[in-house]
Amino acid sequence: MQLLYPCLIFLLLQSGQSQAKRLVGPAREATSSRIKGGQEAETGFAPYQVSLQPVVGAHNCGGAILNEQWIITAGHCVETFVPALVNVITGTNRWAEPGAVYYTAEIHMHCMYDQPYLHNDIALVKLTQNITFNELTQPIKLPTRPVREGDEIVLTGWGAEEAYGSSAENLQKLSLGFVPLDECKEIFNQTSSMGVGHICTYSREGEGACHGDSGGPLVSDGQLVGLVNWGRPCGVGLPDVQANVWYYLDWIRRRISGNSKCTA
Ligand SMILES: *[C@@H]1O[C@H](CO)[C@@H](O)[C@H](O)[C@H]1NC(C)=O
Ligand SMILES: *[C@@H]1O[C@H](CO)[C@@H](O)[C@H](O)[C@H]1NC(C)=O
Repeated sequence: MQLLYPCLIFLLLQSGQSQAKRLVGPAREATSSRIKGGQEAETGFAPYQVSLQPVVGAHNCGGAILNEQWIITAGHCVETFVPALVNVITGTNRWAEPGAVYYTAEIHMHCMYDQPYLHNDIALVKLTQNITFNELTQPIKLPTRPVREGDEIVLTGWGAEEAYGSSAENLQKLSLGFVPLDECKEIFNQTSSMGVGHICTYSREGEGACHGDSGGPLVSDGQLVGLVNWGRPCGVGLPDVQANVWYYLDWIRRRISGNSKCTA
């Protein structure tokens, strides 16, 4: 057991890769994206964006600041980690140059994480210290309504340029549209890995989320509407599937207020 974490860290450092964004189905060799087809985000564009790093200096996943003490991300980003391996980097467009580093006190996985497969891929992270807010470090609002067709959704992240590639140095942004669930399910041949806890986003072939974007925020009209969950790598002309933050609002509020625990 003692050796597990050093080995894990070693592997992470060796590979320089991010495990983020789960990829489902045939892993096609795709010439693809750091947030494929995205653009470099301006300084301060997404002050709610965080980088989750198992060791400081190795980006693994994205996430978003909900308030002074709480970060939200995808379940698969923290599932295999103890709190000591979830370092939270804030206040920067360059994950290797932290504005600040915060440490994790508690990881709260959704009780039904991955049940069924790829569902309820959402987690909350409670920090050991309050975040100090500034121009580059701000919380994002929870949604006040479900996202719908016609809404503009902005994804930000340090995801790879290619499937399984290394992370982008500078934060990237990409504007996406909303794909209704029934259409998205149709595209994915009625897969059982998609449901009301998901939203789908799409722009065009050659654009989309990629490894390292996982857990990262999708924002519409100043509200957090999604967290990167899964897709085919990367930007191959299919929608990406994200956690539907609107659907998990009750769970988020109950967890943050300490009124909910997994009973199993
Ligand atoms: C941290 O922030 C919470 C929520 O605003 C507040 O209640 C608490 O007093 C703060 N703790 C410290 C140590 O500042
Ligand atoms: C859906 O099924 C068709 C026919 O088998 C196949 O060509 C297509 O690739 C499938 N779509 C996805 C997203 O897997």
